[in-house]
Amino acid sequence: MKGPFVIAVDGPAASGKGTIAKRLGEAFGLPVLDTGLLYRAVGVLSQRTGDLKDPEICASAAATLTAEQLDDPRLRTREAGELASQVAVHPHVRSELLEFQRTFASQEDGAILDGRDIGTVICPEAPAKLYVTATPEVRAERRWRQLQAQGEAVSLDEVLADIRRRDARDGGRDDAPMRPAPDAVLLDTSEMTIEQAADAARRIVEAARARWEAS
Ligand code: CDP
Repeated sequence: MKGPFVIAVDGPAASGKGTIAKRLGEAFGLPVLDTGLLYRAVGVLSQRTGDLKDPEICASAAATLTAEQLDDPRLRTREAGELASQVAVHPHVRSELLEFQRTFASQEDGAILDGRDIGTVICPEAPAKLYVTATPEVRAERRWRQLQAQGEAVSLDEVLADIRRRDARDGGRDDAPMRPAPDAVLLDTSEMTIEQAADAARRIVEAARARWEAS
């Protein structure tokens, strides 16, 4: 029997995957989980309670996480993104967060999850997989604008350095490194507006949905 229609949207920081996932949610009437928020929440909690380098402290923060904690606007800050990528290297943190993500993905009508390892580890059977990229410079500019709008004073150069550091850490870790699943469709949004990127993503998913319905 075929499983639910799951859409995996992976890619590096500020590639546009969050907005694309949201737009796909509206277009296909599916719930969306931004899995980055889970790691951001674990990062913020672990920093409060102890050492980010201690895998067990971070794993117990992951074990106590509830859905309500994900609405906190403090999770959207530049610092929370950095803390997230530090705790995300611990295999025990990742395994604690697995069930939450798989439960979300198993909803009867389907679901959309955006992250780094959805197509490779969390939902390798997803019928639709996108890997959204853009050059580091374009991503830095987008993230810088977002942070400005949130009132964070930071230079474009600092944001570019953050992005490069996070790409290296997320792509270089041993457990679930950030990379496209072999069957993911690559979407480079460097030269696209968000409207164009969302349209391109919708077309890719429509084709995947037709294949899934026929299967
Ligand atoms: O929004 P942005 O792309 O900056 O980051 P995010 O998606 O909120 O993710 C923050 C960090 O969490 C990433 O840099 C990863 O280290 C980690 N993460 C992960 O390891 N696996 C996921 N599925 C999602 C996020």
